[in-house]
Amino acid sequence: MKISTITTSVVAALCCAQAITAEDVADATTLAADPVARAEATVAKMTLEEKVVLTHGIMPLPFGFDVDIPEEAIAGAGYVPGIARLGIPALTETDASLGVSYIGGIRGDGATALPSGVAMASSWNPDLMARGGAMIGAEARAKGFNVLLAGGANLMRDPRNGRTFEYLSEDPLLSGKLVGAAIGGIQSNHIISTIKHFALNGQETGRKFADARISEAAARESDLLAFQIGIEDGKPGSVMCAYNPVNGAPSCASDWLLNTVLKQDWGYPGFVMSDWGAVPGLDAALGGLDQQSGAQLDPKVFFGNDLKAKAAADPKWMARLDDMNKRILTAIYASGADKNPAKPGGSIDFDAHANVAEDVAKQGIVLLKNAGDLLPLSKSVRHIAVIGGYADAGVPAGSGSSLVHAEGGPSVTVPTAAGNPFAALMSETYHASAPLKAIKAAVPDATVVYRNGRYVADAVIAAKKADVAIIFATQWMTEGLDVPDLSLPNGQDALIAAVAEANPNTIVVLETGGPVLMPWLDQTGAVMEAWYPGIRGAEAIASVLFGDTNPSGRLPISFPANLKDLPRPVLDGSLTLEPDFLGAPKPGETLSVNYDIEGSDVGYRYNAREGHKALFPFGFGLSYTSFSLSGLKTDGTSASFTVSNTGKRAGATVAQLYLVSQNGGVKQRLVGFQRVALAPGESRQVTVDIDPRLLADWKEEGWSLPAGEYGFALGHDAERLEAPVVARMPARAWQD
Ligand code: BGC
Repeated sequence: MKISTITTSVVAALCCAQAITAEDVADATTLAADPVARAEATVAKMTLEEKVVLTHGIMPLPFGFDVDIPEEAIAGAGYVPGIARLGIPALTETDASLGVSYIGGIRGDGATALPSGVAMASSWNPDLMARGGAMIGAEARAKGFNVLLAGGANLMRDPRNGRTFEYLSEDPLLSGKLVGAAIGGIQSNHIISTIKHFALNGQETGRKFADARISEAAARESDLLAFQIGIEDGKPGSVMCAYNPVNGAPSCASDWLLNTVLKQDWGYPGFVMSDWGAVPGLDAALGGLDQQSGAQLDPKVFFGNDLKAKAAADPKWMARLDDMNKRILTAIYASGADKNPAKPGGSIDFDAHANVAEDVAKQGIVLLKNAGDLLPLSKSVRHIAVIGGYADAGVPAGSGSSLVHAEGGPSVTVPTAAGNPFAALMSETYHASAPLKAIKAAVPDATVVYRNGRYVADAVIAAKKADVAIIFATQWMTEGLDVPDLSLPNGQDALIAAVAEANPNTIVVLETGGPVLMPWLDQTGAVMEAWYPGIRGAEAIASVLFGDTNPSGRLPISFPANLKDLPRPVLDGSLTLEPDFLGAPKPGETLSVNYDIEGSDVGYRYNAREGHKALFPFGFGLSYTSFSLSGLKTDGTSASFTVSNTGKRAGATVAQLYLVSQNGGVKQRLVGFQRVALAPGESRQVTVDIDPRLLADWKEEGWSLPAGEYGFALGHDAERLEAPVVARMPARAWQD
């Protein structure tokens, strides 16, 4: 499927918090004048001097770099000057995966923090992603930004990756659909969104030099497919290439990734911007890079005077330079950013936007265990002990460039060492949404006490006196650093075990960036995964605890039973490299990561292939009601089935359809999903289309589907499957 047009946004009426659906975004009107033709016409008018204006930018932040920051630049991740003579606006760039980023509060403003990426993805709800994206885009516009560095689509190949919280899932279909919807929502505000980090940016350890080794077939069937679907659905104006090399070539200079796959095979018409400090040299332009971002972070401003000199001397370089400008202008025109300029000082309805964040948090919370229906808690409960996780003050946020805070900043900051130049980006911080307060508000007549959990004995005494103990357990993650394993840090595993022993009615609320091991699982009454739940996280958690919200989140990543079950039991580089936020190699340092171990079988697919059982599988999540899936009919191109609420409460589930076998061999792939909300006793007929790329193998020439028998099964999760139905399919081969 070629991506030959970028469509613009839906009308302004759809721009804000409510009422936008993924379909609205997909129906967005194509600009009357073809953006590509307009871009070509503008390039024809540009002087050579002008042709190297859009090709590089700065990071307009006073973070110790020697750079002139023009007055019109807004403090954020990036700034690229415009060309007034040609009506080309400056590009004002902010990180925006989870909201408009906070960058240490130096703008003096705040923004609405959505829950983490993995939390959003747990909703399996593209419409909600679009609503979240539209909200972020509206806030960014109101702050004067017209390029959003959003759309993190890397597959979660390793749960220890420090950016797991920013990404969406381990599956190409789920990640692609969700990221496409989010990008569509963002761009409905006449601004440009990226999709990032292209590609195979799977870990932070050695992040600027960890060479992702993978066969083309495995890459096309997994990470690249997620990007391909996301680009088809979301039509982002820009693709941000990654820090890491892929098969030896830096992503931002990879002829194969950028020229062959993205621009040639997929027909992508927008521009490739570099990640910050990811450009190895001027030749990256021939490798397909169109814009050097935050150029002061690279060894040199390659895409300024050096590029100009090359273009003046060599027609091949001039043609490339024209193409770079055409692509950047195509994205500007397609978004309408020139005709609808974003200006600082716009108004923001923070209450309405916080409601979006709360809805996302509610749909993203995953109930993992509920022994004896301990949850929902009765509102007549008398005595609750709330323990740990700074629950008296807030809910945690992941750190790095994506970090968002409301005006006034975090309610808790765990200090980093004095003098750390990255303290603003990588301190452990909490949003001012306090679970203790939300729980007290839900049961105003109960005795609710708090213990910080520092001393096990103190927490145990409080738990013994209470009817119910609720422990908030946190695992902080940040861009730039991986976690060494999947334990809860700071002795929290021991704390939970002791509290659970003291009180059988112990509920663990996990606020983690990604999967963790749970050595105490059998002792606890209930466990819910709330992730980093954003600015209204506490309210969402309390609503699920007391049953005002019936949990409906489903895991977008497998929780392994054991580190030994991962393709790489030891994270590459973790035994040899010193943790380093920047992740640049020291002299002589090299690192390669073999992704061919699992190949395209990431997460649950690997578990199916190897016969591993997860602690909690991909797609898993409990509800306060029950559901059945039945009546599957499929010919392998689409499928229909019935979803029923067989319990006594209204609730939502996510029906999942998996390929489970191909000509008798085990082969598991998610091929369709649908979130369905049902009243008690209600049933609904669902039809899903099956994208043939999900069934196919990538061969040298393109996709290939062998003739034969394909087994499909409805799944409550990747391991709890209904009886398979077999479809006979003819052989097929096609290009993209
Ligand atoms: C991150 C990107 C981010 C950029 C600009 C980089 O360190 O990898 O995700 O968009 O910084 O802040």
